[in-house]
Amino acid sequence: MNIRTIIPGIHYTGVNDRVTRAFEGLWPLPYGVSYNSYLVEGTSAVALIDTVSIAEFREFHNNLSQVLGDRTPNYLVVNHMEPDHSGSIPEVVKTFPGIRIVGNAQTIGMIKGFYKLEDDSLFLEVKDGDELDLGGMTLRFLLTPMVHWPETMMTYVAERGVLFSGDAFGTFGALNGGVIDSEMETEVYVEEMYRYYSNIVGKYGKFVQKALAKTSDLKIDYICSTHGPVWHERVAEVVGITDRLSRYEPERGVTIIYGSMYGNTAELAEEIAASLSEAGVKRIKVHNASTASLSEMISDAFRYEGLIVGSATYSMTIFPPVEALMRALEVRELQNRVFGTFGSFTWAKGAVVTALDGYAQRMKMPVLASMIMKQSADSDSLAEARALGKRIAELLTK
Ligand code: FEO
Repeated sequence: MNIRTIIPGIHYTGVNDRVTRAFEGLWPLPYGVSYNSYLVEGTSAVALIDTVSIAEFREFHNNLSQVLGDRTPNYLVVNHMEPDHSGSIPEVVKTFPGIRIVGNAQTIGMIKGFYKLEDDSLFLEVKDGDELDLGGMTLRFLLTPMVHWPETMMTYVAERGVLFSGDAFGTFGALNGGVIDSEMETEVYVEEMYRYYSNIVGKYGKFVQKALAKTSDLKIDYICSTHGPVWHERVAEVVGITDRLSRYEPERGVTIIYGSMYGNTAELAEEIAASLSEAGVKRIKVHNASTASLSEMISDAFRYEGLIVGSATYSMTIFPPVEALMRALEVRELQNRVFGTFGSFTWAKGAVVTALDGYAQRMKMPVLASMIMKQSADSDSLAEARALGKRIAELLTK
């Protein structure tokens, strides 16, 4: 049981998931994940903010019982409909007859579609800026579409400076006893925030920017996201990380990602990494696309200014795990990187170059340094690899 009073009248009632291995069926969860839910108690009404995955309903129900006793929440505010948060809505409706679901028009449409709850009297539809007075606690609803789905909204309690932010500012990692950042070591959650943002929300940077603009004038003492710690001491830091990532603004460092069948392209990657180091670059992340997780590769590509991608030629195009990575970056509209490419071929010289150039053009991320090697390394190709690394290091601005 992981309930906690955040401030008087606002309680954490979320749950941990240490069973699911892949979030959305895709993204590894080495530290688990939390599905956060909150209760807001006013003098005249009580609101539940979001639910949890249906797989965790039993613990969620226990948490609610512990906080509520024999009371019934008057409202269920649905900030986000992805089933990791909405999955328990039908059970909540059954458990608390008379509860009204608060959401915008798109939310209500999705609830009907996902959960077949058709009774219109169940819903209280809200629009951007609407308020709901719970008695000394006023919920203000801010529509923030595409952070991360079209129906997403945030709920702000002006009297307490508390922002229920949906997926924004979320991160992977189950909560290990503590709930608020001030009562725990947060390094792992901050690190995981890069992976969470880039993997889950990364495509929607311009919408995240709109949401940040919408909340920029609010006094925020606590950010209560749907995943990870409640942010209190590190509010400014996590807002800054989200701002930079959603503007595709990188940090100093270089990510090298390569695909190699027999070690020849890998040899180039090692040479490039060594030349970057000689040029003074300290943060160099090297990923073999065959063994690294797509999740980590996306995260580092989002995080660091330099991006160097290499591939052996395979079936007259890019090696499949490298292709998957480039496709994932294209979908997420990654931009503004110091981009270099390298590759190897046995008989089809132009294939990898052409394919990587195609990504570069579509992503408007020009190739600033490139090399191609025939079959295996010799002194010339190793020198070219060194020159490539040196050139990328020279172009870094951070
Ligand atoms: Fe944690 Fe977009 O759901």
